[in-house]
Amino acid sequence: MSVHKVIYDTDPGIDDAMALLFLHFSPDVDLVGITTVMGNARIETTTRNALYLKERFNIPCPVAQGASLPLDGTDEEPPAHIHGHNGLGDVALPEVISAKPDTRPAYQFIIDMVRAFPNEICIVAVGRMTNLALALRAAPDIAGLVKQVVIMGGAFGFHGHFGNVSPAAEANIHGDALAADEVFGASWPLTAVGLDVTLETLMLEPYLRDLRAKAGAVGEFIWEITRLYERFYQSFGMPGISVHDSSAVAFLIAPELFKVRRGPIRVVQGGIAHGATIQKDDGKTHRPGAWDNRPSHDVCVDVQREAFLQLYFDTIVRGANG
Ligand code: BDR
Ligand code: CA
Repeated sequence: MSVHKVIYDTDPGIDDAMALLFLHFSPDVDLVGITTVMGNARIETTTRNALYLKERFNIPCPVAQGASLPLDGTDEEPPAHIHGHNGLGDVALPEVISAKPDTRPAYQFIIDMVRAFPNEICIVAVGRMTNLALALRAAPDIAGLVKQVVIMGGAFGFHGHFGNVSPAAEANIHGDALAADEVFGASWPLTAVGLDVTLETLMLEPYLRDLRAKAGAVGEFIWEITRLYERFYQSFGMPGISVHDSSAVAFLIAPELFKVRRGPIRVVQGGIAHGATIQKDDGKTHRPGAWDNRPSHDVCVDVQREAFLQLYFDTIVRGANG
């Protein structure tokens, strides 16, 4: 079994925290860095949360703080009604965290690691794509040196999913549409894990209760941070929570659970469809257009729901008790 060296680019974030634990406890993953970005909360908060999670769960890798604003500089109010004012469901957190961030900004950390481990690093990016775009702008050569990029972002219309933050766009892409278009424009091996599959794998309350019962302090933590998140999903009639970011981790460690479609991806900039992600299917022919001369990437179009849920459950329970 090959172990993936992973940089986790994240905006913790409730589902981000759950995915971080999934990475941390996965025997197939060597987590070599966590980079933070604004999104589910402001950058100071997402970085504090990453440092808190590192400390609380003994995650040995460094944390590097990333972008505080998207590339176009627009400042958006974070979604406190989904992730809480503290980004972790408003559970009590310690006043002081002793772990300190790496001295480098996230994009520089990414560049340094990719160059230090050529063709070995997998980037799992589950927030705005700002840090990745900044890294590509500063060091375009890294595109040829990264082993794999898996992003949680986008919605391509499969299973009827087109957007969550708007009817046309998914939050991570909408939050920095320019960065996302640049990341999709890079010639690196990239897979987008979008709402098409993440909204198909809800964790229902009995599942979370079972995890709580079997995964000790880790299960209890997941249970606590998901209370607010669950109420948010219930408020519009969803029977469970979508743990978007863990689907990206699942793709990394068990790609056989997913079906993909290949083709170049563009992101709509501005207007009512701002942040919409549109892939041109490699199997189809169109008139010349905005997708020409762009690299093909994979988009997840289907997932084996039960197998994904089982993989997450088993990984957390085994890791928590190990
Ligand atoms: C994405 O947006 C964030 O709220 C989640 O953490 C996830 O990465 C889902 O649209
Ligand atoms: Ca996220």
